[in-house]
Amino acid sequence: MNDILVLYYSRHGATRELALAIAQGIDSVPGMQARLRTVPPVSSVCESTAPDIPADGPPYAELRDLEECAGVALGSPTRFGNMAASLKYFLDGTTPQWLSGALAGKPASVFTSTGSLHGGQESTLLSMMLPLLHHGMMIVGIPYTESRLTTTQGGGTPYGASHHARPNADGTPDGAISADEKALAFALGARLARTALNLVRGAAAA
Ligand SMILES: Cc1cc2nc3c(=O)[nH]c(=O)nc-3n(C[C@H](O)[C@H](O)[C@H](O)COP(=O)(O)O)c2cc1C
Repeated sequence: MNDILVLYYSRHGATRELALAIAQGIDSVPGMQARLRTVPPVSSVCESTAPDIPADGPPYAELRDLEECAGVALGSPTRFGNMAASLKYFLDGTTPQWLSGALAGKPASVFTSTGSLHGGQESTLLSMMLPLLHHGMMIVGIPYTESRLTTTQGGGTPYGASHHARPNADGTPDGAISADEKALAFALGARLARTALNLVRGAAAA
């Protein structure tokens, strides 16, 4: 069990950029590797509207990904100060894992992207922790020993990685994350992977 699930939703690619930086941080820890997965958009139409396999990017997450991984990094764009419905819909389908305690004791981190600097990064990150805590997961944040936390002009919080995606001229978010945002996302991924590795080794030694 040496994979960390990086599970995210991204409509325009900004949250995906954070996911890739977190995955690089995970992969930097010897013995650990990132497993990137996404979720399909939800629809108000009660029929299948999206193909089973996404046109590009990582595959859609399956519930077994949660069970097979040693930890989870959960990411979503901020939608009205909260996570996107597509990710919440996937999480609402995790009752079997909640009942079995499949995620209890595993470490987890969260990340988000917003269109405005004060548009709800912290509220989204904190709200994303709630279902993870119900699952018994242990939250891993970013400590202030990461000096960029105090100097970043964009995203990056002690609660998790974040990105301030300034809008392009056509209104779509700018997907490019800053050097500080990328470094903090990398640090979070590495810290999550190290924590998971220590827990896995501790359980094996017990
Ligand atoms: C329905 C909706 C609600 C949004 N709510 C917020 C919000 O509360 N605060 C904010 O700063 N940005 C908000 N945004 C902007 C997105 O969070 C932002 O564009 C984000 O970077 C998109 O991420 P993505 O590129 O991964 O899809 C909202 C966007 C949509 C479509």
